[in-house]
Amino acid sequence: MDKMIINGGIPLKGEVNIVGAKNSALGVLPATILCEEKCIIENVPDIQDIRNYISILSKIGAEVNREGHTLYIDTSNINQGKISTIEEETTKMRASYYMIGALLTKFKDVCLALPGGCNIGDRPIDLHNKGFEALGAKVEIKNGFIHVHAKELTGAHIYLDVVSVGATINIMLASVMAKGVTTIENAAKEPHVVDIANFLNMMGAKIKGAGTDVIRITGVDKLHGAEYSVVPDQITAGTYMIAAAATCGDVLVKNIIPRHMEPIVAKLAEAGCIINTYDDSIRVVGKKPLKAITIKTMPYPGFPTDLQQPMGVIMCIANGVSTIIENVFENRFKYIYELKKMGADIMLNGNVAVFNGVEKLQNAKIQATDLRAGAAMIIAGLVAEGRTEITQLKHIDRGYEKIVENLRQLGADIVRVDE
Ligand code: UD1
Repeated sequence: MDKMIINGGIPLKGEVNIVGAKNSALGVLPATILCEEKCIIENVPDIQDIRNYISILSKIGAEVNREGHTLYIDTSNINQGKISTIEEETTKMRASYYMIGALLTKFKDVCLALPGGCNIGDRPIDLHNKGFEALGAKVEIKNGFIHVHAKELTGAHIYLDVVSVGATINIMLASVMAKGVTTIENAAKEPHVVDIANFLNMMGAKIKGAGTDVIRITGVDKLHGAEYSVVPDQITAGTYMIAAAATCGDVLVKNIIPRHMEPIVAKLAEAGCIINTYDDSIRVVGKKPLKAITIKTMPYPGFPTDLQQPMGVIMCIANGVSTIIENVFENRFKYIYELKKMGADIMLNGNVAVFNGVEKLQNAKIQATDLRAGAAMIIAGLVAEGRTEITQLKHIDRGYEKIVENLRQLGADIVRVDE
């Protein structure tokens, strides 16, 4: 069993480079299915979710070659008959839902195992399906599979009852070649929604308004190959910023788009950190004692749900009473039980967690309960004095490239062992 062993209590110091966003690359890869030419995608992180997606594309007939962070993808030989071979991969990850939108556009008929992913709440895909149906498709769910088919896809007016990143992107994938105009109202505005729309536009799509809550897509007959660089990962950047703050360190987080980091910068500043923002980097200096804060998770540009767990570690040791109100995923609090093993004083009531700051976290044997909870466990281990062991690393591997190496570079005493 793989474990991370951390001897905590060392402030992080130095610089860290951020690679491309997982959630963006996970939309760009299926988008390549929509053309019959080669695409070159740069700044793709080397993480398990991406390896899984490469496996999905390869199994259905695409040729995918990787050189460092660049992928060369040729989807001209994708074969509808091979879709049934990707059942295992699709059940492993949430973002496999994008295969539905992309393959619906390509073949007008797709049957896939229902998507998996982190167990952080109910995570329905009803809004994705509502979008496909509005475009003229029929959706049937049976025995763990979803079958979506259409004679033809026609532009429609779609209102999302809840702001959903996945549904916004999936409807874009399903409508770029639909006849006429599709409007998505109450669309998600996350940086990766904009990134995927930009990539589709570089392939010849006509998408306007991505980044606002109304997106208009005018269907085109054909898309062509494109060369594209994935936007930097806002969540990975935020993870290192929070780790710097929690350990009262001094870290320059490089290769990022500072505007995407505003909610995190605001909260770390409230916690008493000194933040300097440059063109494409942010320096975070953590100051003791950290101050209590309140966060309410919201769709972008609100505070991202993916960073409430790492931020929870700061709240464990901040001076006073801090609160998290989780408005996006109801089940994103399992990590609290792990933090309690380390002496944290936290009270959970529905979607509200109240943290009564303690002076120190204690070392313990803890586990990553999902991807971002795993990041929180690492930060907790870096903060706690003594030896902390973290198991269930498969969750962390899904989304963080070289996290042990990067943290060691910043001075942390962290190793990964296979026992
Ligand atoms: C994506 C991200 C995930 C992030 C989340 C919120 C990917 C691969 N994953 O997840 O890392 O935490 O956005 O920023 O990009 N909902 C419905 N019906 C639907 C779809 C969603 O009710 O059909 C609800 C969800 O239960 C949730 C909310 O909408 O409460 C937001 O979910 P959504 O934005 O769709 O998240 P994901 O796409 O699953």
